[in-house]
Amino acid sequence: MKALKDNLLEKCHSDFINICFGDFPIREVKNSVSQNITGYGTNINEKIRSFLDFISLLNMQREESEGIDMTFDFVTISKTVFSEGKSAVFIDEGSVKMTIDNKPIELFVRLSSIFEFENMKWMTIHFHGSFPQGEEGDPDTWSVNEWKQKNERLEQLIEKRTEELRQSLEHLKATQTQLIHSEKMASLGELTAGIAHEIQNPLNFVNNFSEVSYELVDEMNDELDKRDIEEAKHIALDIKQNLEKINHHGKRADSIVKGMLQHSRKNTGKKEPTDINKLADEYLRLAYHGLRAKDKSFNTTIITDFDDSIEKVNLIPQDIGRVILNIITNAFYVVDEKKKSEIKNYEPTVTISTKQRGKNIEIYITDNGNGIPKTILNRIFEPFFTTKPTGQGTGLGLSMSYDIIKAHNGELKVDTIKNEGTTFSILLFNNKKSNR
Ligand SMILES: Nc1ncnc2c1ncn2[C@@H]1O[C@H](COP(=O)(O)OP(=O)(O)O)[C@@H](O)[C@H]1O
Ligand SMILES: [Mg+2]
Repeated sequence: MKALKDNLLEKCHSDFINICFGDFPIREVKNSVSQNITGYGTNINEKIRSFLDFISLLNMQREESEGIDMTFDFVTISKTVFSEGKSAVFIDEGSVKMTIDNKPIELFVRLSSIFEFENMKWMTIHFHGSFPQGEEGDPDTWSVNEWKQKNERLEQLIEKRTEELRQSLEHLKATQTQLIHSEKMASLGELTAGIAHEIQNPLNFVNNFSEVSYELVDEMNDELDKRDIEEAKHIALDIKQNLEKINHHGKRADSIVKGMLQHSRKNTGKKEPTDINKLADEYLRLAYHGLRAKDKSFNTTIITDFDDSIEKVNLIPQDIGRVILNIITNAFYVVDEKKKSEIKNYEPTVTISTKQRGKNIEIYITDNGNGIPKTILNRIFEPFFTTKPTGQGTGLGLSMSYDIIKAHNGELKVDTIKNEGTTFSILLFNNKKSNR
């Protein structure tokens, strides 16, 4: 009986090795492997908690090794039977040989397996397979040398990646600088076109009045020849009035040019008492004519509502001007887009208004575009956030505006309603008197 039982144990053990490394038929596995089998394969993911786990592991292994010629050779290192012959532990060592891509490969394997005798049968109830790590002859139990080498390789890899990251960061920074520059240039472009238009207007006056005056001088001379002093004096008065107009419009052109220089000059960052209404009106015109210069078809109704009671506010005019320009340009863009979508009875309208509330001054810029979708509303002030096609938007307008208003201790807010439009409000605190 004892010999038979031992034969059965040997058979069960050799079956198990055959199941794991050979071609033991899967459908017969249940005859020698317990339904409650647990175990660990050589791979970290190979955890067996049930018979089904075990079968799927086998299936996977066989699929992987399909078409590959494999041979194996195991030697039992120890065999212990205990619990009055009811349990046994085997420890085996061996190797699996195969040829992959014409290269012979030999994998060393250690296998421990536990067997249980029940209902007159031996069954495998647990196993643990592993690949001995480390180089052959490595005296180091914990493979310290190997880990060291691995770490070195890792460090080199990290160094390489860090260098790559550093380079792409540098590239990104350069691109950002370039974009910031191009946003400034874009707003300068809009300004220049607007300013050219603005200057044209006083220049027309200057030209017309000087031409008329030229003719008037001839007429005056005629009257003097005729000794009609009265009429000559009358004409002289007209000439004088014309000269006043020429002077007035000349000065207008002068101040426009000065304004332009102020904008293009490096920001002095100086705050000065500023007429907000005038500033808003000026930049509104610049934005409008700037856009018209680029796109003749652009058209929109513009409504202004300026609060005349506003006192001068201490601020950096070029900066606040740039904010107004940015927001108005965005507003023009959205009403133009909406108009191009050919919505019935749509009248593109941009409104700019100012209001004094106590010490605070508020500037509102409203458009009747399609509004800002909720999904992007919290992103519009982010640098480089844009929904415009490449080349049309830098995504810097609002982030710059936000920074400028913050530097003025003010607030920049946005209210938007789907399909109806958007209002940007600039809140400035007039601290001129409090001298903060
Ligand atoms: N009045 C507006 N109506 C709808 N969306 C707007 C409006 N103003 C700004 N946006 C959105 O905010 C984004 C960021 O604006 P901005 O910072 O000025 O950059 P850019 O104009 O270059 O896109 C725009 O691309 C657009 O999606
Ligand atoms: Mg913009």
